[in-house]
Amino acid sequence: MLLEAPVYKELFGTIEIYEVQKVIKLDTQTRDVGSFTVKNVPREDIYRILEDMAIVVPMKNEKLQLVDGVLKAIPHQCPIIVVSNSKREGPNLFKQEVDLIKHFYNLTHSKIIMVHQKDIGIAKAFQEVGYTDVLDSNGDVRSGKGEGMLIGILLAKSLGVKYVGFVDADNYIPGAVNEYVKDYAAGFLMSESDYSMVRLSWRHKPKVSKRGLYFRKWGRVSEITNRYMNALFGAGTNFETNIIATGNAGEHAMTIKLAEILPFSTGYSIEPFELVYIFERFGQWEGVEEYRDVYDQGIEIFQIETLNPHFHEEKGQEHVASMILSSLGVIYHSKLATKSLKKRILEDLRLHGLLGEDEEPPRPQTMRPVKDIDANTWLDVLEDNAETLFKFEI
Ligand code: GDD
Ligand code: MG
Repeated sequence: MLLEAPVYKELFGTIEIYEVQKVIKLDTQTRDVGSFTVKNVPREDIYRILEDMAIVVPMKNEKLQLVDGVLKAIPHQCPIIVVSNSKREGPNLFKQEVDLIKHFYNLTHSKIIMVHQKDIGIAKAFQEVGYTDVLDSNGDVRSGKGEGMLIGILLAKSLGVKYVGFVDADNYIPGAVNEYVKDYAAGFLMSESDYSMVRLSWRHKPKVSKRGLYFRKWGRVSEITNRYMNALFGAGTNFETNIIATGNAGEHAMTIKLAEILPFSTGYSIEPFELVYIFERFGQWEGVEEYRDVYDQGIEIFQIETLNPHFHEEKGQEHVASMILSSLGVIYHSKLATKSLKKRILEDLRLHGLLGEDEEPPRPQTMRPVKDIDANTWLDVLEDNAETLFKFEI
């Protein structure tokens, strides 16, 4: 793969965040590229990394045609982890997903694990290890994409892989999913730290309009989140920036070492919260002893602009509004947010009718890092009690 070289970056404490790098050519073999501004990541190196990368696919009531395309597009080397929160009655969509995945396994012999988020075995496993952060007041696992991802990370850890990546199940273009996973690998190959993250931004996000397909550059949520995420970064460093283009990146990947030490927030606020937490915790040289290795190696964040457009299901205005609110809530409640930044967020949300006069955006609900969980016990309890855990391996 040829990418724009990581020429420009911003520093914040021990964090290095790189400017967006565009994909210039999707597939190359080992060969010298005679330019300092282009980075060559040979195909053989990418495939070497893929074996060590689990891909988590969170899903909730998605069209089976889309799920099928997504699964078939994930490179064969990567173990797949499906965490579903789909309906189990009236109608039983989960059963249809299980059938689809069994069929997919029979055809491909891909390594794949599947579980339902509300499986009683998962709730029991979390209770057993004393991690109630992901449970509701009845002791059941909460709904939410963030909760699904956390379960996915624990399963990835149990596989012993080095990296975990996420792809949404509602993608209309299987070829795009195939690229995303390879983009993750390319990012890790550029990294020098065991604590790194690769976040994708879209070249275009097409919308159907009266004039035909319109290739939008930014989604509404990303535009707003990125503006305030940059402002927050500026408040932390005292240097204004526009380097952050992936505040909401659902399609992203990280080393298991980084995933283990991050607290996560619930639902769709998970992606902006990852950045905000990293800025708060590692943007300063305090509490270095607790995370010596992280401070020694640094945290690297890569942002890659995909060649493929991102074409997914439209979930409606209300969904967009709640995503804006929870994303800005994460920034608003950050300890790095200044008074004037908070004021701007409130004014903006009120102007757009997303917030009442005396209201504040929601404070993110957080879940402790998974390093605090005894993963072996968690897995044992899950395996002993699960009703919906399917493990397909050759
Ligand atoms: N396991 C699980 N549990 N999965 C869920 C849940 C849940 O409760 N809710 C949603 N999902 C799955 C969806 O089925 C989909 O595969 C994925 O999570 C993303 O959800 P969407 O509803 O499609 O979200 P979106 O497309 O509006 O937003 C996506 O992109 C944003 C910007 O890049 C998400 O990935 C966001 O997290 C991201 O910020
Ligand atoms: Mg979607």
